Amino acid sequence: MSRLVYAVILASGKGERMNCGFPKQFAEIKGKTIIERSIEAFEENEKTDEIIIVSEPSTIEKIKEIVLKNGHKKVTKIVPGGAVRAESSSIGVGEVVEDDAKVLIHDAARPLVTQRIINDCITALDSCDAVNVAIKATDTIIEAENGTMKSTTERSRMMQVQTPQGFRAGTIKKAHSMAKKEGFAGATDDCGIVFRYGLSEIRIVEGDRTNIKITYPEDIQIAEMFVEA
Ligand code: CTP
Ligand code: MG
Repeated sequence: MSRLVYAVILASGKGERMNCGFPKQFAEIKGKTIIERSIEAFEENEKTDEIIIVSEPSTIEKIKEIVLKNGHKKVTKIVPGGAVRAESSSIGVGEVVEDDAKVLIHDAARPLVTQRIINDCITALDSCDAVNVAIKATDTIIEAENGTMKSTTERSRMMQVQTPQGFRAGTIKKAHSMAKKEGFAGATDDCGIVFRYGLSEIRIVEGDRTNIKITYPEDIQIAEMFVEA
């Protein structure tokens, strides 16, 4: 059994909703870029062995400089991503050779991920093949179509999904290869893909309200508040 733990950090998005003129992973939170903070979380994690970064093709050099400047020793590969998140994720996971290694796939856009969350995911993978990170929904979730409510849900059973999401490499590779055949249509998060093909039970690890995804400009202020706290 491979004991290796990989982190795949997805940083190949354009950050269109952030609208800051450059990919949002290079925006700063208290003087440090989002991508640096995300790399650091896994660099500092004692159980993580290697970090693979999936970058927007035009920013690979910039990320290389950041990794060199910070002496991030666990970063072994920086590879160009794909057109959609799921494709970027499959490219990153494709760099992992051992099918029984543990792989944590993380959005670079969640720079405040905690050591507790990372460790809980890695530990959970000792006894399952897939793990999701989620927090209880605070808003009621409805399904809507063309501006009309279609269905409602029971809030107490609803959870909001975060990253990292962890897998035995063989499980997520199989899921990605199946999704690829469908052009990654409808694939948002990696656990969603594993779930769709019924490849594994998916354990849930408690997330954290501070583990926000930087999506809109105001999320920077919220993140800065959490960093200070
Ligand atoms: N991502 C990626 N490859 C893509 C699209 C997204 O690696 N083709 C990554 C982003 O860099 C981000 C994470 O997936 O870390 C979550 O995506 P999201 O928050 O949607 O980021 P962006 O796609 O960059 O933002 P937007 O949708 O506003 O353009
Ligand atoms: Mg996106």
